[in-house]
Amino acid sequence: LFVKELVESAGRLTRVPSKYVFETTKSDDYVVVDPVSEPEAIKIPIIDYSLLTSGNPDQRSQVINELRNACLEWGFFMMINHGVEETLRDEMMRATESFFDLSMEEKLKYSGKDLFDPIRCGTSFNPNVEKSFLWRDYLKLLVHPHFNAPHKPSHFRFCKNTAKKTREMASELLKGISESLGLDENYINEKMGVESEKWNQVWVANMYPPCPQPELSMGLPPHSDHGLLTILMQNDPSIVGLQILHNAKWVPIHTLPNCFFVNTGDHLEILTNGKYKSMVHRAVVNNKATRISIGSAHGPPLDTIVSPAPELLTNGVGTQLSLPAYRGIKYRDFMELQQSNSLNGKSC
Ligand code: SIN
Ligand code: FE2
Repeated sequence: LFVKELVESAGRLTRVPSKYVFETTKSDDYVVVDPVSEPEAIKIPIIDYSLLTSGNPDQRSQVINELRNACLEWGFFMMINHGVEETLRDEMMRATESFFDLSMEEKLKYSGKDLFDPIRCGTSFNPNVEKSFLWRDYLKLLVHPHFNAPHKPSHFRFCKNTAKKTREMASELLKGISESLGLDENYINEKMGVESEKWNQVWVANMYPPCPQPELSMGLPPHSDHGLLTILMQNDPSIVGLQILHNAKWVPIHTLPNCFFVNTGDHLEILTNGKYKSMVHRAVVNNKATRISIGSAHGPPLDTIVSPAPELLTNGVGTQLSLPAYRGIKYRDFMELQQSNSLNGKSC
């Protein structure tokens, strides 16, 4: 059963069924920052995308500096002036809503067990191994190198273009990130199959219906994303659901109008030998409205073995090599490892 159907079938649900009471583990026992006493703690980096792509050289190097700080200090930023019209985002949200409005029978056609099915929907994260269920339904689409979308609703056909635009943004950001590491701007894109158009892009649409006891349930527990970069959008800007771990506290993310959230993933951490760490985040639920978030995850082709870039294994002086802190692993194997367990911080 999906959470959406559970909520709808129960008439007025006043309590969370015990199976959905989330057991907080020691490792996510952090407090949420108090914005009044700690205003600095919620100052999220903001990146002006237009200056990265069409700014003058001074502006571009300024943004690359900001990207470096954002990746070093936060692993997260809000991206403004990205040029993606709001109608495209609305279209995606409508497609997602219409999909979840389909009958259980329709949806179950896509509830395959294989992690690498190009279209897959389900509930929680991995109910086979989880002690308690998450207050979350999801739809995952592999949108590149091949675009996959369910036939119903037909809205999804229009999203191919949005997938492409999102990929372009990720590619431009990865250029800036390469430069911020002192590498050639095409370094990451070349190594990760971006230039050859073979990289991997997955859309994950999360639906979090209103929850009668939001403090007892969890939308998505603390985790980092497996890819290089994730670009995330959400439906209603007034609902705060995403929280990111920063300086050992949870920072709730209040969005700016029409911005995308961007976070670093595990493969950027591996590639940079831990210089740019993947960001740990979670999604909490609320009792007012359905929240939808759609993340576009970008990673290398599934068969690529990613190891720390040799160019980054210097001590900064350039004479003495520092040791790789990560061993190479095939992206597919890493993904499988993460996805076949329960979500648990950076256990992977
Ligand atoms: C995610 O981590 O994939 C989604 C987070 C969110 O719903 O904001
Ligand atoms: Fe995530």
